[in-house]
Amino acid sequence: MLEAVERKIVQFISELDEKEILALYRQLPHGKRLRAKLILKIAGSNLTAVKTAAVVEMIHIASLLHDDVIDDAYTRRNKPSLNALYGNKTAIMFGDILYSKGFYELNAISPDVARVISNAVTQLSLGELSDVSLSCTFQTNKEAYLKMIYQKTASLIEASAGVAAIIAGKPKAVYMQYGRNIGIAFQMIDDILDITSDSETLGKPALHDFAEGKTTLPYIYLYDALDISSKKRLKTMHAKILKPQEQAWIIEQMRLHCIIEKCYGEAKMLVEEAIELMVSRGEESLGDIAKSMIERDF
Ligand code: IPE
Ligand code: IPE
Ligand code: MG
Ligand code: MG
Ligand code: MG
Repeated sequence: MLEAVERKIVQFISELDEKEILALYRQLPHGKRLRAKLILKIAGSNLTAVKTAAVVEMIHIASLLHDDVIDDAYTRRNKPSLNALYGNKTAIMFGDILYSKGFYELNAISPDVARVISNAVTQLSLGELSDVSLSCTFQTNKEAYLKMIYQKTASLIEASAGVAAIIAGKPKAVYMQYGRNIGIAFQMIDDILDITSDSETLGKPALHDFAEGKTTLPYIYLYDALDISSKKRLKTMHAKILKPQEQAWIIEQMRLHCIIEKCYGEAKMLVEEAIELMVSRGEESLGDIAKSMIERDF
């Protein structure tokens, strides 16, 4: 069924009747298609679900095109990012084209589906903006971090589960709760992998977040655990390109204070709660999707 989603995306983009845009799209390597898989699992294999999944993946791609401009990231999905290949202007405008064609198609699906997804995209954009402003300082407020990752990442996953429930005539609220939990856990794992993985496995730059000024959950917990002089040292490293020995110091401190385990445990708790919600509804296969959100290397 994922092939049907892929064909639908190509059809939507072909309807724009612009060869260059279709060529740009065809050049993009595929991602994990997690959001599409989630929608099809909840809503079943029908045309409305396929169209909705196609729109959500187009929106997700648009958000990544803009995100790589915002984050100065030059690799994505193990290839040069579109901004690296053609510059920021092309990446931004191609993102806008995918967003607006997506919204156009949403209107033809149903007002309910359109409302839930477009509201999530507003949240996503607010979250990306908040990520930018939080990165300007060494911020250690966990609540601010949690709100920001809910907005930038969990909102679209929550909405994907919600619209799939609408399409299938299932109770929307419980599926949205499930989506919210796995979405927050998904971003926590993304933030952990930035520290524990390498660029090749990730397909995008590793150890990039702190250099970009982002104090993700592991940095918030590490700062809390350090003594005063180490706190000072960590702060001086914020938002800079670090030397290998400085990077090694951070990794060693994280190891000494069991920071990654602590963050992973927190993501796992959210996922377990989500699995329980679904098991109680007899949706065991949604438990597997939830697990794959945290048991991943990229
Ligand atoms: C990347 O999302 C952006 C985040 C929300 C962390 P994915 O990890 O789902 O990206 P692709 O589509 O598989 O490349
Ligand atoms: C998530 O944040 C991006 C979006 C929600 C668009 P990141 O900036 O951490 O995502 P990656 O690591 O570049 O995929
Ligand atoms: Mg990024
Ligand atoms: Mg980002
Ligand atoms: Mg990331």
